[in-house]
Amino acid sequence: MLKFSGSLKVSGDKSISHRALILSAMSVGKTKISNLLESDDVLRTLEILKELGIKIIKERDEWIVYGNGTNGFLEPRKYLDCGNSGTTARLMIGAVSSNPINCNFIGDDSLSKRSMSRVTEYLEKIGATVHLTKKDFLPLLITGSDRLLPINHNIKKPSAQIKSALILAALNIHGKTKIIESIPTRDHTERLLKFLKANIKIKKLKNKNIEIELNGPYEIRSKNIKVAGDPSSASFFIVGALILPKSNITLKNIMINPSRNEFLKVLKNMGAKIKVQKTKKISGEEVGNITVKYSKLKGITIPPSKSAFLIDEYPILAVAASQAKGKTVMNGLSELRHKESDRINSIVSNFKKLGIKINEINNNLSIYGGKLKIEKQIKIKTFNDHRIAMSFSILNLLCDRKLKIDNIKCINISYPEFKNHLNKLLQYVND
Ligand code: S3P
Repeated sequence: MLKFSGSLKVSGDKSISHRALILSAMSVGKTKISNLLESDDVLRTLEILKELGIKIIKERDEWIVYGNGTNGFLEPRKYLDCGNSGTTARLMIGAVSSNPINCNFIGDDSLSKRSMSRVTEYLEKIGATVHLTKKDFLPLLITGSDRLLPINHNIKKPSAQIKSALILAALNIHGKTKIIESIPTRDHTERLLKFLKANIKIKKLKNKNIEIELNGPYEIRSKNIKVAGDPSSASFFIVGALILPKSNITLKNIMINPSRNEFLKVLKNMGAKIKVQKTKKISGEEVGNITVKYSKLKGITIPPSKSAFLIDEYPILAVAASQAKGKTVMNGLSELRHKESDRINSIVSNFKKLGIKINEINNNLSIYGGKLKIEKQIKIKTFNDHRIAMSFSILNLLCDRKLKIDNIKCINISYPEFKNHLNKLLQYVND
């Protein structure tokens, strides 16, 4: 039998790593970034910034970024290749839009099927010129301008990527831009800007919408940034410890921003023994140590209002649900269709192969927990989606590694150290 035991520091947060690079490139002066996540996605952002004339070097464990200001990007000589990274594409399209340069963005097959018009429709409204493939996709050509209009944007889709793209654009727009979110999403861009002492105003409106007001152009002074541990990466080990009998682990230095720690609340409602001990703030983000013990889980209903705060954790929550007593219902998952894979389909098709009872109706999932009975090897299709690969790697520990996961390498997109960290926690115990 296998269990998880001991303590671990998971790698730096992916969302913050992208933003640390972009905002230090848009600051004036030298920034040292520590604990940057060196995953495929983040390295795409780093290479694109270099292509836009930003000097970035590595010295020992730190990355040094020499920022050129909010209007300092130079026209690239090459295509800007975002690889698999939706965050790179959406945020960088926003960041370059208020600079008077032409940029061609490309991505891999999966990214080339994901919507970019969800960002560019707003940028076109304020004066950027964009040519998209089939009106929605990469490759795209954007011609930016330093005379974009300051207006109010109402964001209907719950997406931190859309919001962040507009915030980054607004940093070099002359005048007041307001960005209004009807459903709150992760707020790392706002927090990092506040940490960098940029004067942005955030308020909750009477109707509970969130309004972010920027008054550009900004000159942001560089300040060193530390990246806290990634809660989404931690979620795989947390669920692993919950479902592997006799497990007991502590994950250190994990970011516990309320827009990212909803999965801990969901798991606690399912009966998980999880304790969070707050430590100190790191570069504007709350951080803590998380202790998790094996627990008997029970099924619950997760309402649609939580979906923006759980967006990256649904695959591993589905694994937890498959081991819980009773039925777990996850409602309002339409945004999962727009991730690195159609995650509803990735979860449902693989669960069916494993004999886990799962129903899908109108972007809602019902999962019926029970003991896994896997007798022969079963192929798991990751659809090249890192979070699907990691979720099934955890489930695999419960079935003598009989699952053959088709493209384990895609884990490098967000967590190159996953295998090392998993092996560090894993122990054999006698039944
Ligand atoms: C991210 C936002 C989320 C998330 C993605 C990272 C970010 O996407 O799924 O992994 O860093 O802003 P959406 O905001 O489009 O839902």
